Amino acid sequence: MKIIVTGGAGFIGSHLTKKLIQENHEVYVIDCLHPYYSPERKKKQLEHVAGFGSFHFIQKDLLDREEMEAVFKRISPHVVVHLAALPGVAYSIEEPLKYVDYDIKATINVLEASGKAGVSKFVFASSSSVYGNQSGPFKEEMANGNVISPYAASKFSAESFCHVYESLFGFQVNILRFFTVYGPWGRPDMAIGSFIKKLMNGEEITLFGEGRARDFTYIEDIVNGIYLTIHTLTKSEVINIGSGRPITMDYLLAQLRWHFPNMKINKETSRVGDVVNTWADIEKAERLLGYEPRVDFKKGLSETVKWAKENEKIL
Ligand SMILES: NC(=O)c1ccc[n+]([C@@H]2O[C@H](COP(=O)([O-])OP(=O)(O)OC[C@H]3O[C@@H](n4cnc5c(N)ncnc54)[C@H](O)[C@@H]3O)[C@@H](O)[C@H]2O)c1
Repeated sequence: MKIIVTGGAGFIGSHLTKKLIQENHEVYVIDCLHPYYSPERKKKQLEHVAGFGSFHFIQKDLLDREEMEAVFKRISPHVVVHLAALPGVAYSIEEPLKYVDYDIKATINVLEASGKAGVSKFVFASSSSVYGNQSGPFKEEMANGNVISPYAASKFSAESFCHVYESLFGFQVNILRFFTVYGPWGRPDMAIGSFIKKLMNGEEITLFGEGRARDFTYIEDIVNGIYLTIHTLTKSEVINIGSGRPITMDYLLAQLRWHFPNMKINKETSRVGDVVNTWADIEKAERLLGYEPRVDFKKGLSETVKWAKENEKIL
């Protein structure tokens, strides 16, 4: 199949691209190498993926509406996986309007270009943040727009535009809500990646807020959820892709201490915009996709620490 992966130079996108080319799909990565975090790191991610087979790389910004329409028509893909976005809750509070551009306007351009190019399936990367500060487990129907960060509001809005363009063009739309993803090549601004890097350098780590828990999901499980959606799902659906098993910060710290016995922690009050807990109800993913998270947290964290020790110094 011909598949466009927007944001394919990013964390999740580069892992997905690797899996798709290994399965002999013709993959077109569209990514502008946005400097939210190091473009050099994104280039290294692409180089790593290129070691597993060939794919097309188009360095362009999805905000260019006419260009996107032309590119999508030229490629004429069967499937579009739209992962490109400006991620991160904290930065969205500083720069909310950038999230309207990168997470809403860019999504509209991709939806419109997909419709005009005759795409049959559109997969959108949404986020657990759309559940706001409710108590879990989160079932898909619990998202109601009552969110607490501009990032979450832009994802909820982009989901809504996905429904609009499904009705305008009639393609299948699958909205996948990912829960805190971690693993090798993990985003350097996220807790696990940044903690490991600091601990390797003997620096103190800072924890915001007490009594928090996150449904940390290993990257291979996320990629598997996307892959199953591409291959098995035949109708439009909104589906959580998570581990279904919240990890408390105390447990995360205990596991990190096992890898870094001299760990030093600085505790601060919670940051605005951060939800207290996330917890995915994954019954729908299990039932509709045959999805099953395979990597438990201890194993996933060990793999991530091992990767960081071998690679982080050169990134
Ligand atoms: N990582 C997580 O824990 C997580 C959780 C929930 C949802 N998500 C969502 O999954 C998707 C991928 O996340 P990620 O962690 O891989 O992020 P990432 O920042 O590593 O990847 C996103 C990529 O999109 C590209 N991009 C952004 N705007 C673009 C534009 N206008 N044109 C072209 N390229 C553009 C960036 O350069 C980057 O390479 C995002 O939509 C994110 O919101 C991620």
